[in-house]
Amino acid sequence: MPKKSILSTSQMEFREEQRERSSGNALSDLPAAIVTGANGGIGREITAGLLHRGFQVIMACRNPERASQVRERLIQEGRGTDLASRIRIEPLDLASCDSIQAFVSRLSTTGQPINLLINNAGATFKTFDTTTDGIERTFATNCLGPILLTERLLPLMVRTDDSVTAARIVNTISLTARYARFKGGFPDSSAHSYRRLQAYGRSKLALLIYTAQLAERTTGQNIVVNAADPGIVDTGIISMQCWYDSLADLIFRPLIRTPQKGAQAALHAASASHSGYIYSPAGARRIPNRIFHHPARETLASLWKSFL
Ligand SMILES: NC(=O)c1ccc[n+]([C@@H]2O[C@H](COP(=O)([O-])OP(=O)(O)OC[C@H]3O[C@@H](n4cnc5c(N)ncnc54)[C@H](OP(=O)(O)O)[C@@H]3O)[C@@H](O)[C@H]2O)c1
Repeated sequence: MPKKSILSTSQMEFREEQRERSSGNALSDLPAAIVTGANGGIGREITAGLLHRGFQVIMACRNPERASQVRERLIQEGRGTDLASRIRIEPLDLASCDSIQAFVSRLSTTGQPINLLINNAGATFKTFDTTTDGIERTFATNCLGPILLTERLLPLMVRTDDSVTAARIVNTISLTARYARFKGGFPDSSAHSYRRLQAYGRSKLALLIYTAQLAERTTGQNIVVNAADPGIVDTGIISMQCWYDSLADLIFRPLIRTPQKGAQAALHAASASHSGYIYSPAGARRIPNRIFHHPARETLASLWKSFL
């Protein structure tokens, strides 16, 4: 069982092993991680943390220009180490099924095994909108996209009997999932009843339900599947895009977590030994049973399967 707030022995072994691997080894020997939204506030810090642990990182980002600036800064900050060869950018728009398919096809042709997938990217939208695939944009970005990406990447993930080097998947959720309800079904389909935070919370609840399902489904396959809740973190996503933003920034932002602290939940989950947990700043706790048996689980599964 993962312990609260501290790293388990196997997590420490894992870090040590990754560090040893990164010193002087060929690129192909290094474990490979994909981080979605790697140019964002928390994604950048997750990427920095993984590089420090000896991973090669694929920054899966929808805006390669923004990603490239972040990549350059990470390389500069990592003075003396050969980071440039260990970070690469791959375009990915999670709100587009075609983009997800193209991303996975590009990876498949390289034949590179993937050790770690961190589904970190996320967004909120002030007004109702649908994607070219006809799905409400919050749900498409935060839930359907990460699910399709995960399902398509599963065949590329490493298979090993060694629990320390097992493949790992981390899905980023939020506190808002706790208060979300699927009244009237999902995804949201009406501009009239659309509420930004509700849509966000529902998308994260649905992602948590999927995480529980996948953890169950992959039992005994040496794939460790968990969720990470970063807490409230000083990044762009918490801006309400309203007149009072600058006032709220002044009062509120100094009190909340830095992106570096916000990245810790995902980084701990990235070396977890057991599936089915939520990693947060308070430690690791089992995903509640009501999520494993959620009444929406079958509806959700048929929805994403219809897009595969
Ligand atoms: N900050 C918090 O308080 C908080 C709390 C709970 C959970 N979270 C979760 O933490 C994760 C990281 O968020 P953050 O706080 O670091 O926010 P952020 O700074 O706004 O970063 C979000 C990242 O997601 C990317 N993204 C958005 N839509 C995308 C799409 N369609 N395809 C690919 N990438 C997309 C963004 O790319 P662009 O640069 O192209 O926009 C950006 O890199 C999210 O899942 C968020 O829901 C955050």
